[in-house]
Amino acid sequence: MPGTRGAGRGSSGHSTNLLNGVRDKFIFDAELPIHKLLNVTSIFGETWMLRAISVFGLVITAAGLLVNPAYAETPVEVLAVLKTEASATPGFQGFSATHGESFFKTKHSHDLSCSSCHTDNPAAQGKHAETDKLIKPLAPAANPERFTDMKKVAKWFKRNCNDVLDRECTPQEKGDVLAYLLTVPKN
Ligand code: HEC
Repeated sequence: MPGTRGAGRGSSGHSTNLLNGVRDKFIFDAELPIHKLLNVTSIFGETWMLRAISVFGLVITAAGLLVNPAYAETPVEVLAVLKTEASATPGFQGFSATHGESFFKTKHSHDLSCSSCHTDNPAAQGKHAETDKLIKPLAPAANPERFTDMKKVAKWFKRNCNDVLDRECTPQEKGDVLAYLLTVPKN
């Protein structure tokens, strides 16, 4: 309420009361509706401010997508995502390349192993066990495209694990496999 500001305060001296009075006058003037209506720049200012805020919001969203795990860019980042998932399992003690290797080479259901298509040497070119279609090497050292797209990784883990195990792989199994693949040298 104009004019009531400063009332009850300013007991510290006359000059403070004077200052309050000046401020109240200023506030009173600024609150006159006519000032608002005539203040075209401030109306534009608000519009531009809103635009700036929404553009800012888009930039933040885009940046969020870039750092989102769904767009992880390196095998190490993919491994970190798997680790976060696996950590939710009680008793998780980290990934094991040794377990990953035996998991990869062991035949599970349907007489199939991961090696059936990706071969016992994941740095080598593989061949689809049913269609004979060539499959590029799975080890990141031999094929830098591997494990650079979380969506692709998730899709193929799901599909291949279902083929080989009749179920999805656990985060532990996926992490063990990736830990193993990361130890495989170029050739
Ligand atoms: C029946 C054949 C077959 C079997 C068995 C198989 N895969 Fe695959 N795998 C493929 C094909 C085909 C692709 C996709 C083509 C490509 O990316 O070259 C693929 C792609 C992948 C990818 C994608 C990696 C990336 O980032 O590009 C992963 C991970 C993978 N396989 C893991 C496994 C694991 C783990 C097993 C064992 C549980 C397994 N695969 C068993 C055929 C197979």
